[in-house]
This record gives sequence, structure tokens and C-alpha cells, in this order.
Amino acid sequence: MRRVGVLTISDRGARGDYEDKSGPLAAELVAEQTAWAVARRAVIPDEFDVIVQTLLDWCADGLDLILTSGGTGFAPRDVTPEATRRVIERDAPGIAEALRAASLEVTRHAMLSRAVAGIRGSTLIINLPGNPKAVRENLDVLLPVLPHALDLLTGRPESGQEHRAL
Ligand code: MTE
Repeated sequence: MRRVGVLTISDRGARGDYEDKSGPLAAELVAEQTAWAVARRAVIPDEFDVIVQTLLDWCADGLDLILTSGGTGFAPRDVTPEATRRVIERDAPGIAEALRAASLEVTRHAMLSRAVAGIRGSTLIINLPGNPKAVRENLDVLLPVLPHALDLLTGRPESGQEHRAL
């Protein structure tokens, strides 16, 4: 079974100033729409080194997919894309392009997300914006494509399932 990590990146969430709604929503949508296990969940601050180390640890743990939420905008402490770039070995620009294009249909503010996607080893890492509404809108576009993406990445079809290209 594929294993997924959901990483919320938010200073306020990590301090406990507000309840993280994006991480639980992402985990719920993955559980609803795929047969995969959400194996790791965490809420961490917008600290470059903490983000890099968490991503490296989760990749070393052999997760197939890591979805991050938050820290992709223009605020001075938004460093999720830079930390993700430090970790990935191969860029997957089409994913970030598609998410921004689909999101632009919903809000012009979508152009303010600097989210990136890429691959380290056999782990696919995808940045999502922070608010729960954006998480849902992005996952609506993303989730139908991910089974094929992970089949290609791991070089094997998910056990018991054949995924056709959409
Ligand atoms: N994408 C979608 N689909 N829906 C949204 O509401 N919000 C945007 C954008 N992308 C949004 C979206 C906004 S307002 C910002 S500032 C950026 O994502 C970055 O969000 P982040 O800093 O929480 O990561």
C-alpha cells in the first residue's frame, strides 16, 4: 500500500495559536479518494531548516508521496518552496503549473502561490497553499492523476490495481 505524509507548515499552527484544519482535510481527502495510508502527519513552523529536515526524514522513511500545506506565498517567512527545492532531485513543474492554472479559475490570488513539486528518490513532494479551501481545490485536480504518477515513479503498479492514464 502506498504511504503518504501530510505536512502542515505554519508558525501559528505549530505554536498552537490556531487549530490546523488543512492537514486533517488533506488526510481526509486522501483517505476518501485513494486506497493509501496517511502514515505521517505533522505541524511545523515556517523554519527553513526544520522543513528541510522533516522532508529528508520522511523521504528516508520511504514515503511515496508528501503533501505540504502552507508557506508558499509572499510573506517574509514563507519558505516552503525554497526548502522543498533544497530536498528534491528532479523537478515536476507540470504539477505546479496545473495546480496554479486550475486555481486561477477559482481565484486570481492563485498566482500568489509559489508552490513547487518534485521528486527525491522515489518520493513525490507537492506543495499546496495553506488554507483549507485551497487544499480542497488543489486536491480535486491532483488526486485523480496521482495513482499514475506514483506507478511511474515507483516503476510498479499499485498492488492489485491498474491505472490508466487519464
Ligand atoms: N489556490 C486555490 N485553489 N484557492 C485559494 O484560495 N489562495 C491563494 C493561493 N492559491 C488560493 C490558492 C492565496 S490567497 C495565496 S497568498 C497563495 O495561495 C499562497 O498561500 P500560502 O501562503 O498559504 O501557501
